[in-house]
Amino acid sequence: MRIRCLALALCAAGCDGPQSALDPAGRGAEQIAEVFWWMVLASALIWMAFLAVSIYAIHSSHEPAKLKGTNLLILGGGVVFPTIVLSGLLTYGLATLPEHLAEAPPGALRIRVGGEQWWWRVQYRSGGDSAVPLANEIHIPVGEPVELLLESRDVIHSFWVPSIAGKVDMIPGRKTRLVLQPTRTGVFRGTCAEYCGASHAYMSFHVVVQERADFRKWLAHQAAPALPPATPLTAQGLALFISNGCGSCHSIRGTAADGVVGPDLTHVGSRLSIAAGLLPNEQDAFRRWIAHTDSLKPGALMPAFGMLPRDDLRSIAAYLESLK
Ligand code: CUA
Repeated sequence: MRIRCLALALCAAGCDGPQSALDPAGRGAEQIAEVFWWMVLASALIWMAFLAVSIYAIHSSHEPAKLKGTNLLILGGGVVFPTIVLSGLLTYGLATLPEHLAEAPPGALRIRVGGEQWWWRVQYRSGGDSAVPLANEIHIPVGEPVELLLESRDVIHSFWVPSIAGKVDMIPGRKTRLVLQPTRTGVFRGTCAEYCGASHAYMSFHVVVQERADFRKWLAHQAAPALPPATPLTAQGLALFISNGCGSCHSIRGTAADGVVGPDLTHVGSRLSIAAGLLPNEQDAFRRWIAHTDSLKPGALMPAFGMLPRDDLRSIAAYLESLK
């Protein structure tokens, strides 16, 4: 009994957290959780009815039923009943679809999100402002529908933030859409839900749901160019970043680095994690990432720079971490 209670408690504990479809923080996830619980309830009732009939059959001392009655029971329990129950559940599930597929109203915030092997290219477009290129972290205002335009340049990825909405594939050559409608503030974890190559498991991101004013402040900061280095160590880091050619793949707006192959790093130090959710945003994690990219994320396009002197790696890491 104690083990059963423990198992139940463990199962329940697994239902909340920043990446749970059963602890909804968005309109889409709420509907999915509702469908899930109705399905669980219906299955549990059917299972109990089945158990009751089985137990009755095993322990019954009655004569075997007449053939005609038995046939009716099989027809009713094996064809009519499942058809009615499954049709009912299907109709109920499909009835929620139009809302999932609805477009965001005109004037809603629209964000382009591109799946890459293995990170997320994010681009904010709000009104007439020029686009703000970011990576691996999405901030959205609470209580407002936000439309994501999903695309991919390489293989099929799938965008999924279980706490906020369902998942939608990102297909090369096509644009798909997903409307997020967060209902509470918080930090949620998203992930790629379609196998997309060797490091598929290392392709996650954070969605930060904020009050409108905080969100505007965040976006204005992200749109601004990087602050110049404030210490000799970070100044040396920037110089090394440029001289080692990092800027041909990465942009740091406000410096000579203007590459577009890899993630924009203008405010990389302000993000909750680095390397698409793989490592914490800490100076030493930057150093490890730059030196051991190949072993931390097998198959990644970025070459490992483990051949650089340790002090150089430390300067570059200090500079990147300072890019708040
Ligand atoms: Cu991208 Cu899996």
